[in-house]
Amino acid sequence: MGTNRVVSGMRPTGKLHLGHFHGVLANWKELQQQYECFFFAADWHSLTTEYANTEIIRSSTEEMLLDWLAYGIDPQKSTIFVQSRVPQHAELNLILSMITPLSWLERNPTYKEQLDNLDTKDLSTFGFLGYPVLMASDIIVYKAGKVPVGHDQLPHLEITREIARRFNFLYREVFPEPAALLTETPKVLGTDGRKMSKSYNNAIYLSESDEETKKKIMSMVTDVQRPRRSDPGEPDRCVAFTLHRLYTPESERSEIVASCRGAQIGCVDCKKILARHVIETLAPFREKRGELAEKPRLVEEILDEGSRKATHEAAKTMQDVRSAIKL
Ligand code: TRP
Ligand code: SF4
Repeated sequence: MGTNRVVSGMRPTGKLHLGHFHGVLANWKELQQQYECFFFAADWHSLTTEYANTEIIRSSTEEMLLDWLAYGIDPQKSTIFVQSRVPQHAELNLILSMITPLSWLERNPTYKEQLDNLDTKDLSTFGFLGYPVLMASDIIVYKAGKVPVGHDQLPHLEITREIARRFNFLYREVFPEPAALLTETPKVLGTDGRKMSKSYNNAIYLSESDEETKKKIMSMVTDVQRPRRSDPGEPDRCVAFTLHRLYTPESERSEIVASCRGAQIGCVDCKKILARHVIETLAPFREKRGELAEKPRLVEEILDEGSRKATHEAAKTMQDVRSAIKL
């Protein structure tokens, strides 16, 4: 039961960048052809770190959903919703919190790491420690069989499985144990050569203008061992070339490789070509996003419908849960 169902969430942190397009979104788009998918904005999860800064959560959620829809996460195929509109996640979270040993949460490597790294925020809260319990609730409230997540989320998914097992053992078999769906995606580098990330300030966003994209691409790091135009370059050492791999057609790309190695093309011209391909590839998304942004009612309707469907499914599970625990 439930094995053909996929659940995944994303914490709203604002606009999505190229790393998301080639990673999680490409993955989701593919999955919706094959599975019954539930995709949601995990706004309660954002609250665990942004509780003192809540005004950004709502606008981030809206921007993120526009990106999903423009990219092709399709409300005809998938159930798209916002976590905080489905209160069953919170009810299940409460129940699961009763059976989750503290030690499982305290030893969670992601917890320890973030506690140390995000030292500008006070994260010594009940809710932050309980992040994996809420995540488990998100997943098993739909009796999901598969959860597409990145490597960083594997410890959380392991806790989900342990919690499901413990519930089934204590009461009765209600939840399937969800499996991780790990899909390899290309690592997208930002303009400075580090991993593309909002926090590094090196990201290219779907929703920015063509001019901004061009400016960022023109500022991208190239082969640092090619200080002069007359020096031969090496695409394998070049950050800009990593984007050529994703956006420039094969035949043109091999010409670039040859011209770079033979010092026949300069980096400025090379990056102009790159900018053109990136902008051309993004054009249909940008157009669609622009259209959707003009239709807030349509987006509202999609979320209303998605939240209604999700609530319906989650409510069924909660009946099983209440009867299993005899409340
Ligand atoms: N913790 C996930 C992340 O930060 C987001 C998330 C919340 C999630 N609930 C989920 C992912 C349920 C998969 C399933 O990326
Ligand atoms: Fe990179 Fe292109 Fe410059 Fe070669 S010519 S170093 S591939 S930007």
